[in-house]
Amino acid sequence: MLLQIPDVLTEEQVAQCRRTLEGADWVDGRVTAGYQSAQVKNNRQLPEDHPASRQLGDLILAALQESTLFMGAALPLKVFPPLFNRYEGGESFGSHVDNAIRQVTGTPHRVRTDLSATLFLSAPAEYDGGELLVEDTYGVHNVKLPAGHMVLYPSTSLHHVRPVTRGARIASFFWIQSMVRDDGERTLLFDLDMAIQRLGGGTQEDSPALQLTGVYHNLLRRWADV
Ligand code: NI
Repeated sequence: MLLQIPDVLTEEQVAQCRRTLEGADWVDGRVTAGYQSAQVKNNRQLPEDHPASRQLGDLILAALQESTLFMGAALPLKVFPPLFNRYEGGESFGSHVDNAIRQVTGTPHRVRTDLSATLFLSAPAEYDGGELLVEDTYGVHNVKLPAGHMVLYPSTSLHHVRPVTRGARIASFFWIQSMVRDDGERTLLFDLDMAIQRLGGGTQEDSPALQLTGVYHNLLRRWADV
């Protein structure tokens, strides 16, 4: 499932990220690329251990905790500390699949990448190109979102970023290890969750919402690893 999550960050939070990233020292994006993706990756990144990465990463992680849409769709077990990238002057990232396992540098922590996330920090009018193209069984999804919005997609997907031909595209990107590893099972749970919410709360013993909430939790119990 590919899902757009609007307003993960407020305008003020986006502005704070942009101010902090303004004077940052960006490095070659190939520092976090695997062998295959290093051949096609052409952008710049903030080093993982840069103080701004930590500070803004924590701000994003706190915002994600508040997003019921994110929590329901991703069912996160672990979130990789957010990274930041910048594309300009024709830079792009060719077709690739993200590495399956990510080690958090300098720690023993590993994250299995079930979901990939891109949080846009530049407004679409600030740059030309820079679309994220994600392939799935239904075709190719073209993603270019307002600043503060995020896209979540299965890390198994082939994807690329088109060249940025004007301005700069600044974004945060990271990965999620979900409690529910399988994308199909996770999508069923999310659809059920959304439908229950539309039914509204039921407290009577025979209410459909109550019964379906039971089904939701019993499926989650069956499929989740924590
Ligand atoms: Ni990627």
